[in-house]
Amino acid sequence: MKRPFRIAVTGAAGSISNSLLFRLAAGEVFGTDQPIILQLIERSEAMEALRGLAMELEDCAFPLLHTVRLHDNPEDGFRNVHFAFLIGSKPRGPGMERADLLAANAEIFSRQGRALNDHANPDVKVLVVGNPANTNALIASRNAPDLSPSQFTAMSRLDHNRTKGMIANRTGFNTADIRKVAVWGNHSASQFPDVRNAEAMGEPIWPGLDHDWVDATFIPRVQKRGAEIIDARGQSSAASAAQGAIDHMRDWYQGTPDGDFVSMCIVSDGSYGITKGIVFSFPVRCRYGRYQIVQGLPIDDAAQKRLDATEKELLEEKDAVKHLLPAETEEAHNAMSVSLRSGATRYAEEDRDDDSDACVLRTDRVM
Ligand code: NAD
Ligand code: LMR
Repeated sequence: MKRPFRIAVTGAAGSISNSLLFRLAAGEVFGTDQPIILQLIERSEAMEALRGLAMELEDCAFPLLHTVRLHDNPEDGFRNVHFAFLIGSKPRGPGMERADLLAANAEIFSRQGRALNDHANPDVKVLVVGNPANTNALIASRNAPDLSPSQFTAMSRLDHNRTKGMIANRTGFNTADIRKVAVWGNHSASQFPDVRNAEAMGEPIWPGLDHDWVDATFIPRVQKRGAEIIDARGQSSAASAAQGAIDHMRDWYQGTPDGDFVSMCIVSDGSYGITKGIVFSFPVRCRYGRYQIVQGLPIDDAAQKRLDATEKELLEEKDAVKHLLPAETEEAHNAMSVSLRSGATRYAEEDRDDDSDACVLRTDRVM
């Protein structure tokens, strides 16, 4: 019998989590033979709503759901966790840019970085979804001196999936047949969705694409898809964001398909000339819980301009939160190497289920 993984989710009563949690509990990320303990974290004001959600989780009778624990603070909530989905933060409303969220959300992630450092399993894998996701991930990572920067990632998988979907619509292929798309840079309107290396059923699609359409229609549409959804729905994407989070963590843990790559925002090691130490979306391959940046993709002048623009935005965001980036972690972030990624899931000595005052909903199932 496998030991349960402990999974933390912040913002657990919010819209994205409402789509994510039931699929996590059904085994879509860690496999249908892997039991999980959910450690759900919310603001105190939302604890009652969270309790309702936890009851619904119980009522699904998921065989893999070992225990659901509810926490109103990250210090208890991150105790011994192996995986953390950092979703809780204020979403963007109509007319707002992601930069407007920097000030509102930055403090949340410095506290969460410290809490992960002090309480999580030493090999915890972290996915930041809450916006501005790249810079929030940087803040969390820089506040976790005992963890490797490679343990902190942010989500560009939704943009990657959007890219695949739009290319599939344009070319008439199924999304499953489209491979090797990439999203570079920030999860924002400066991102670069790149289809120059993409293949459909193993054949390059770039020669058959209308390049004016790519520049004038496709790239801006992917870049601004979040705002398009907010305008239409009155609130930001939720189910598709949960799908992105599922895909990101599943592929990180279980590996990417042969002959394809995915996009993940990770701490730059200087690949493709990107400034070291910022959290930048790169094409990556994952194996055995590790990721590596896909090297050697051609970057022409037009692509370079786009990389420069999104890198510049990330450097500006970094500058805006510099008061939250402790100097002691700077060196580790500037000395990343793609070939040194921590992978194994270890259990801390003190990993046990009886060590906090948190509100616990236990199932009576024997695991
Ligand atoms: P939501 O408002 O529905 O839910 C957010 C939840 O977070 C709320 O329940 C709130 O109480 C909780 N929360 C706020 N601060 C918290 C804290 N400090 N600790 C724990 N919980 C906290 O929002 P949502 O639609 O679920 O979106 C969440 C975030 O994800 C937003 O920042 C949104 O912009 C972002 N997002 C990112 C992507 C991406 O691709 N990276 C996609 C969609 C949305
Ligand atoms: C998205 O891309 O849908 C989210 O990041 C929400 C937003 O603010 O755009």
